[in-house]
Amino acid sequence: MALAEYIESERLWSNLMELAEIGGIQGGGVNRQALTSEEFAARDLCISWAEAYGLKITADDAGNLFFRIEGNEPNLPLVMTGSHLDTQPTGGKFDGAFGVLAGLEAARAIINSRTEHRRSIEIVAWMNEEGSRFAPGMMGSEAYVGVKSISEIKAVKDKTGVSVGDELLKLQDHLPGIKNVPFGRDVYCFIEAHIEQGPILEKEGIPIGVVTGIQGVRRMRVKIIGDDAHAGTTPYDLRKDAIEEASRTIEKMYTVFSTIEDIRFTVGMLTIEPNVPSVVASEVVFSIDLRHPDSEVLLDCEKQVRDLVAQTVSKCSSDVWCIAEADTIKFNEKVISAIEDEAKHLDLPCRRIFSGAGHDARQMSYFCPSGMIFVPSCDGVSHNINEYTNQSDILAGTKVLCTTLVQLANMREML
Ligand code: GLV
Ligand code: MN
Ligand code: MN
Repeated sequence: MALAEYIESERLWSNLMELAEIGGIQGGGVNRQALTSEEFAARDLCISWAEAYGLKITADDAGNLFFRIEGNEPNLPLVMTGSHLDTQPTGGKFDGAFGVLAGLEAARAIINSRTEHRRSIEIVAWMNEEGSRFAPGMMGSEAYVGVKSISEIKAVKDKTGVSVGDELLKLQDHLPGIKNVPFGRDVYCFIEAHIEQGPILEKEGIPIGVVTGIQGVRRMRVKIIGDDAHAGTTPYDLRKDAIEEASRTIEKMYTVFSTIEDIRFTVGMLTIEPNVPSVVASEVVFSIDLRHPDSEVLLDCEKQVRDLVAQTVSKCSSDVWCIAEADTIKFNEKVISAIEDEAKHLDLPCRRIFSGAGHDARQMSYFCPSGMIFVPSCDGVSHNINEYTNQSDILAGTKVLCTTLVQLANMREML
């Protein structure tokens, strides 16, 4: 029996559905934010599967979890795959979860088929990809590759004042006895399987997307500082109304950015002080998520954000800053070709595709040759409780992942 035939579609699907019950919310969605008790429980479930399949389990100081199958030459740099177990507060069953569970199922198939491989293969569940509880996201992969220090990451707090460091201590207590491994262990290549989160593959009826790169992003914050005042007595000319000026600014931004081709501009979060009905607001902070495939255009749009704030805010004062900035990246051409070759061998139609969403594979691409495999998202819906991918596409993506991992684990050349 060929290796890909060892992938068990029913098992993989039922694992995905079981995992989705952890943090499950009404309507079929999932709220399993980073380092919460739900996310700890998701780790427990994956660990129980990994133990049953015979994988070696390790973790690092950033709360990344690794599941390993030893290769015949375990001192060679390893082949890594995986994604994340955290979700957005109104997330779905597949974003992140698919990549981790596809990796585990691929590992099970490799073990059961007794397929030989030179390099060890590890499946990773990265800590906090989504960045909704602790912003910005991709903390685990950033720590792994060293683009951010662990002390900087530990200091980040959620809205209630709990820090990543506090929760990582709890995680250590929750998972005693797991061997610790250092950051930055040598990786030959990283491949992340993920749902597309867009409409292209489904529309074209193609089960496999071979991802060529990820568009650049600026995650910004704008603070408008006014003054508390009585809503009934304070004349307009004496007010410094932070909501009034923030809303005018946001409106202008939507108008300006709606005319720029391929831009994705989102204000997804607003915090207001004191946020009561009869007091003129003294402070508004809003988020901007700005993305474009052309890094030059993105840089110009970031400047436009700053200019629009300066032009629009008059009575209040303002501050604009970036919490994360990343240019557009391209994945490794040999990794891309390896994935395409495997899809062809398996007779699965594939096409090259560019990623609008961010992924840990971005951070890994700074560190080692990297690539991604996409499977279709029904109606292109994601970050939504209705996120869905057909079981046949989950199977197809996992087969391609599995055989590509072995191919790369046995490859002799440099990527
Ligand atoms: C990841 O979820 C992103 O926001 O692109
Ligand atoms: Mn994801
Ligand atoms: Mn996501």
